[in-house]
Amino acid sequence: MSDDPRLDELAARVHSSRKYGAVSEALVRRIGAAELAKRATLEDAVKATKNKLHQVAGLYFAGGRPDYDAWLRRIVQAPDDAARRAVLRAIMAHHASTRERLPILDAFYARVFAGIGPVRSVLDLACGLNPLSLPWMPLAAGATYHAIDIYEDLARFLQAALAALGVEGKAEARDVIAGCPTDEADVALLLKALPCLEQLDKAAGSAILDTIKARHIVVSFPTRTVGGRNVGMRENYTARFEAMIANKPWRVERIEFAGELVFRMAK
Ligand SMILES: C[S@@+](CC[C@H](N)C(=O)[O-])C[C@H]1O[C@@H](n2cnc3c(N)ncnc32)[C@H](O)[C@@H]1O
Repeated sequence: MSDDPRLDELAARVHSSRKYGAVSEALVRRIGAAELAKRATLEDAVKATKNKLHQVAGLYFAGGRPDYDAWLRRIVQAPDDAARRAVLRAIMAHHASTRERLPILDAFYARVFAGIGPVRSVLDLACGLNPLSLPWMPLAAGATYHAIDIYEDLARFLQAALAALGVEGKAEARDVIAGCPTDEADVALLLKALPCLEQLDKAAGSAILDTIKARHIVVSFPTRTVGGRNVGMRENYTARFEAMIANKPWRVERIEFAGELVFRMAK
């Protein structure tokens, strides 16, 4: 499949678009190869690849192109903790997943990390802008953070933001389906990520849960659409997730927030 001679051209065309120019090359090629095998023409395959990238990633960025340089300046220049938190909240409003979490942010990490400390290392898969929630996470002093999403420019911004927030760690652009990290962590976060990853590969969710080497895995699901509608998502995701972990020997705790359903597992 990856030998299709049109794949280089497809990848070049997807990368020349403003919206998908920074998406990890490996992911574009993987989606592109699958689409070339299914579609009649290169044109259709390019369109279908962009469509898929929109569904799993682009859709969530609200308000156009992120201005990472300006965002970083605002974080660095915030005069105190309260001002910095206000800046981080404003930036997180640019991605639908973190925007939806803003009203519950004060309670969210306090509850999700309660009773499992000390948390010395976090793995944040398909992270979006969530690493900017770091000041709300009750982590041990000197804790490290490893964040992964598919955009190179987002990874550069998050790497600089981690430094500005005084947290040691690494942010990288990677397809977590093709290359799920295997570093050990106290907590792995897979927040609102499984429905996106399963659009790329139906078996991805279960495989990633098996591969992650974390003491605790936190999986969450949105219970409203990006547009704010409630269409039975809580029930559907609960049923699908419970079926996925039915044969896994893990202790699972369910935690409900307005708009987000969390499963915390001890591996
Ligand atoms: C619904 S958002 C969740 C963002 C974040 N976890 C949160 O809850 O705030 C899904 C994220 O998955 C990322 N994503 C999609 N496919 C991915 C892949 N194959 N590997 C890594 N990240 C991916 C998207 O770019 C997007 O940021």
